[in-house]
Formats: sequence, C-alpha cells, structure tokens
Amino acid sequence: MSSTITPISLSSSSSPQDNIDGPLFPSSLISPEIIAILPTDYTIRPLRRSDYHRGYLDVLRVLTTVGDISAEQWDARFDWICSRNDEYYLLVVCDGDDRVVGTGSLIVERKFIHELGLVGHIEDIAVEKGQQGKKLGLRIIQALDYVAAKVGCYKSILDCSEVNEGFYVKCGFKRAGLEMAHYY
Ligand SMILES: CC(C)(COP(=O)(O)OP(=O)(O)OC[C@H]1O[C@@H](n2cnc3c(N)ncnc32)[C@H](O)[C@@H]1OP(=O)(O)O)[C@@H](O)C(=O)NCCC(=O)NCCS
Repeated sequence: MSSTITPISLSSSSSPQDNIDGPLFPSSLISPEIIAILPTDYTIRPLRRSDYHRGYLDVLRVLTTVGDISAEQWDARFDWICSRNDEYYLLVVCDGDDRVVGTGSLIVERKFIHELGLVGHIEDIAVEKGQQGKKLGLRIIQALDYVAAKVGCYKSILDCSEVNEGFYVKCGFKRAGLEMAHYY
C-alpha cells in the first residue's frame, strides 16, 4: 500500500436532492489500489440508495440485529446521511452478481484538540458469511483507512470483541485503552 496520501479539503455537504442514486461520497475517495486487488468481478464503492435492494441490510445482519426497515425508512435515513456526506463515509463491496457482500463505515469527528484534529471512527464492518475468508474484510478496512487519511484524519479508532482482535491486528490496528459503555 502506498503511504503517500495527499489530504484533500473536506467537501461541503450535498443535499439529498442531489443524490437520487449517486454515490454517497466522491468515488475518488476509494483507493484505486484496493479496487485493483479485489477478487475478479468484485467492486468496492460508496453506498448508494439502491443498495437497499442489493442486500445491504442482510449483510449487516451478520453483525447484529437490524430489524425490519421499510424502503421509506431507508430513504429517510439515507437522505440524512447524505446531507452529512463530509462526515459519514459508508462503503460496500459487491460481487460479480452486483449483490452487496460486505460493508464498512467511517465517521469523521471534528475536534478542538490536536489543533482542530479529525478522528475517524470505524464502525459496522461486516462480510456476508459465505464470503468471509477472501480478504474482503481486510480490503474494507484498507479502503476506510485510505478515506480517513485522504480527508485528513490523524488516526482512526474502533471497538471490537476479543474474537475479532486478531482480524484488526492483521489490518494494522493495535489494542489501545479500554472501551466503556452506558446503554439507554
Ligand atoms: C470479522 C470479519 C469482518 C472479517 O472479514 P473477512 O473478510 O472474513 O476477513 P479477511 O479474509 O479479510 O481476513 C484478513 C485476515 O484476518 C484473519 N482473520 C479474519 N477474521 C479473524 C478473526 N476473527 N480472528 C483472527 N484473525 C482473523 C484472516 O485469517 C486473514 O488472515 P491472513 O491474512 O493471515 O490470511 C468477518 O468475519 C465478519 O463480518 N464477521 C461478522 C461480523 C463482525 O464480527 N464484524 C466485526 C465487528 S467489530
């Protein structure tokens, strides 16, 4: 992987009307190197509204409970995320049949500390069961790392269970601190 990533300025948010079925964020933020090393016929790209019909939510079900989300509910949430597309970077991997088989998200937090530093939060990494073990999870993390570096994050952090620690170590992460949670 190239380490020469030139930071770009964060674009202003687009309105939902701008995005009927376009990419959630600019496709130029997807690493060409990662696209090139995916399995044949697989693609990696920003989330699109129509991914509702490509099995996006089913992929998330390997991770946790998703619930029944109607097309109208999906559209409303997609529009909300779309209006913050300089903060929410959700991407998908599709197989040769154009089905979503993997996904991951980067949420960029803007801080005062570290001279207005930006921190990436990696969330909701999931690969369909039958597609695991093909390095798709690794490619998703590498693609999110690329976005984070491109938009100017000085680090990315994530929470995971002990069973997945080895996966994230292989992706270049290291254990740092202790997660605490307060559920409401
Ligand atoms: C965890 C997950 C994303 C990994 O995706 P994947 O596509 O199967 O993993 P990859 O093929 O990219 O694996 C990359 C490397 O990590 C290793 N690896 C994968 N899962 C691992 C695990 N749980 N523990 C240790 N190593 C693991 C692989 O063996 C591979 O190692 P190698 O390079 O030496 O061959 C996937 O199994 C998944 O979606 N799990 C269910 C949802 C989940 O738990 N998500 C994470 C939430 S924190």
